[in-house]
Amino acid sequence: MGRVIAIANQKGGVGKTTTSINLSAALAEKGKKVLVIDTDPQGNTTSGFGIEKNELENTIYELLLGECTVQDCIIKDAYPGVGIIPSNVNLAAVEIELLDAEKREFILKKEIDWIRDDYDYVIIDCPPSLSMLTVNAMTAADSVLVPIQCEYYALEGLSQLIHTVNLVKERLNPELDMEGVVFTMYDARTNLSLQVVENVKSVLKQKIFDTVIPRNVRLAEAPSYGMPINKYDPKSAGAESYAALADEVIKNRR
Ligand SMILES: Nc1ncnc2c1ncn2[C@@H]1O[C@H](COP(=O)(O)OP(=O)(O)O)[C@@H](O)[C@H]1O
Ligand SMILES: [Mg+2]
Repeated sequence: MGRVIAIANQKGGVGKTTTSINLSAALAEKGKKVLVIDTDPQGNTTSGFGIEKNELENTIYELLLGECTVQDCIIKDAYPGVGIIPSNVNLAAVEIELLDAEKREFILKKEIDWIRDDYDYVIIDCPPSLSMLTVNAMTAADSVLVPIQCEYYALEGLSQLIHTVNLVKERLNPELDMEGVVFTMYDARTNLSLQVVENVKSVLKQKIFDTVIPRNVRLAEAPSYGMPINKYDPKSAGAESYAALADEVIKNRR
């Protein structure tokens, strides 16, 4: 059965989307079947795979509203070995439209249950908030992977995030686990990155990945070409780091 991993952090710009795209592509390169679910109305994971997000009939929005089936909205082989449930700005309204929906925290989980046997990994890119969409992702997930940007305010909001994970575990999804914390945009030229890593490690009693994602301009460029890093620049430090992260994620499971 596919392992469902939610990539979450309510802070924007910490590397959730970059991790969703490149971890998925790296897992696929290692022979895993992967489904990526974009639950951010910004749709950056969708466009990062080269999909024209504003011309889609069926997206995560139609799926959550029950207007299409999960099979209807999967774009198969968006990248070799990777299927994607896309998103676009329409999704921004879903929260209000589902205000009175019954068991609305479980909508995504129910849909994923139909297809999780078809994949080794289902990677959910979350929006930068602790909204109903993120709660849906955590309720559907086996684990939460938290990217943390190596910057001065790295710890800010983390306790709130851990608290949300614990609440979901208590009330909605008792099996929910922490996949781990991954440091992103690490800059070896500055002391700050190192200090942030040391500080977070000393404060946060969570699993932390050995792999650290460096700040690498190729990772920032790749989405504008609609390619994951292992296609855009397979020899870059960014590509190597996401391949190593994929190895760790695979190892976590054993
Ligand atoms: N390791 C990295 N090196 C360089 N730029 C990065 C790296 N990770 C992310 N970025 C860039 O930082 C910005 C925010 O990253 P993104 O993955 O979109 O964060 P989030 O999804 O958490 O908002 C994007 O412009 C992205 O290209
Ligand atoms: Mg994002």
